[in-house]
Amino acid sequence: MRRKVTKAIFPVAGLGTRFLPATKSVPKEIMTLVDRPLVQYAIDEAREAGIKEFIFVTSRGKGALEDYFDHAPVLEQELRKKGKDELLEVLKKTTMDSGAIAYVRQHKALGLGHAVWCARRLIADEPFAVILPDDVIAAETPCLKQMVEAYGETGGNMVAAMEVAPAQTSSYGVLDVKEDRGQVVLANGMVEKPKMEEAPSNLAVIGRYILEPSVLRNLQKMKQGTGGEIQLTDAIAEDITQGVPVSGFRFQGQRFDCGSKAGFLQATVAFALSRSDLRDDLLSFLHEVTSVDKAAQ
Ligand code: G1P
Repeated sequence: MRRKVTKAIFPVAGLGTRFLPATKSVPKEIMTLVDRPLVQYAIDEAREAGIKEFIFVTSRGKGALEDYFDHAPVLEQELRKKGKDELLEVLKKTTMDSGAIAYVRQHKALGLGHAVWCARRLIADEPFAVILPDDVIAAETPCLKQMVEAYGETGGNMVAAMEVAPAQTSSYGVLDVKEDRGQVVLANGMVEKPKMEEAPSNLAVIGRYILEPSVLRNLQKMKQGTGGEIQLTDAIAEDITQGVPVSGFRFQGQRFDCGSKAGFLQATVAFALSRSDLRDDLLSFLHEVTSVDKAAQ
C-alpha cells in the first residue's frame, strides 16, 4: 500500500522580474488569469488531487499572498449583508483551515532545489508534491490528480513531462529516457537546462512533482548546478543512482508557461474562452482584431 500524498510545496519566492514593473509591488503569483490569481489555480489543482497541507516557500515582499489566503471579515460581512451568496462561495475557495497552510522563507535566492529544501522540516518521512504555480495546466482531470493516480502504480519519484521543440530544451529539466512505456517513461537520468546538442531527449520536466523524502536528503548535500543554483533536477537524478526509480508522466492537458508574458497572455485568452460568460464577446473581439491585422499585412 503506497503512502498517500497529502502535502504540497509551492515555491513562490521568485522575484518575477519578467513582469516588472507590475511585480514591484504585486507578487507574480497574485497576478490574475481572468479573475483568479495564478496561485489559486495551483491550490485548486492540489485540492482536487487530495492535498491537505499547503506549504509556501516565500521571500520578502510576498505578504499579499498570505493575505490572499486569509479570511476577509469586512468584505465577507458586506457580501452577506447584500445577499451576494455566489461571491461568498467564490471567496470560500480562497481560504484555508487553520493549520492547513504554512509559510517558510527562503532567505537567499539559491535556486528551486534550495527552495524545496527550505520546507524539509514540514515534511515527515512521506512522499510529497511540488507545484510550480507558473506552470498552469488546463485539463479535464487536473494534472496532479492524474499523477497521483499513476503514482499509485509506479511509486518512486514522478515528474510531469511534455515533449518540447529541441531548441527549447535549454529552458527545462530534460529526461534521459530508459524505457518509454507511453504515458509513463522511466528515466536513466535528468539534466537541467541542457543545450540542444547535449540534451538526452526532448522530453521536458513541467512543474508538477511527486517526490520521495530521499530527495530532501539529497538536497542537503547538493552543490550548485546549472546557473550556479541548487537544482531540484539534480537531487531527483541523484535518487536514480541510489536505486529509487524516477518516472516522467505524460499528462493530458494544455500547459501554459505563465512565467513568460506570451504564455500568460495565451493562458488568459484560453481560460477566458472556456468561460460561458466571456466567450462570445471575446471571440468577436479576437475576430475583429485579427482580421484588421490581416488586412494591414
Ligand atoms: C524549473 C525547473 C526545470 C523545469 C521548469 C518547468 O525551471 O528547474 O527543471 O523544467 O521549472 O517549468 P525554471 O522555469 O524555474 O527556470
